[in-house]
Amino acid sequence: MIYSEKVMDHFANPRNVGEIENADGIGEVGNAKCGDIMKMYIKVDGNVISDVKFKTFGCGAAVATSSAATEMIKGKSLEEALKLTNKAVVQELGGLPPAKLHCSVLAEQAMKAAIADYCKKNGIALEPTAGCESCGECHDCQG
Ligand code: FES
Repeated sequence: MIYSEKVMDHFANPRNVGEIENADGIGEVGNAKCGDIMKMYIKVDGNVISDVKFKTFGCGAAVATSSAATEMIKGKSLEEALKLTNKAVVQELGGLPPAKLHCSVLAEQAMKAAIADYCKKNGIALEPTAGCESCGECHDCQG
């Protein structure tokens, strides 16, 4: 089996799919490698992500990693959520085939874009960084 059981579970029963009406932050990103897109919505209560939902025109790996990522950031502070990397999500899922690693970047970037949107709208100086310092896209190089 190419995909772990956890990946298959999140793909078959994705958590937190949908839209949040009156979301506090919305992030929409496209994957440069495949053209797929992802939209993420967050609700922020105080400094905590009280709700998060996503929608994607993406592959199964994108669905599974986004589903896992939303579970990992729900109930977390903005600062904690910003520390979540695509690598950590992939680890949580028990790995992904190398050719599908880029799909996990979509979830990380959409989440960070949603937090950035919230911060911008509320005049909060919290600079989310998308990816590592070398390419700005992923953490695949351990950066
Ligand atoms: Fe596009 Fe996976 S192939 S996100």
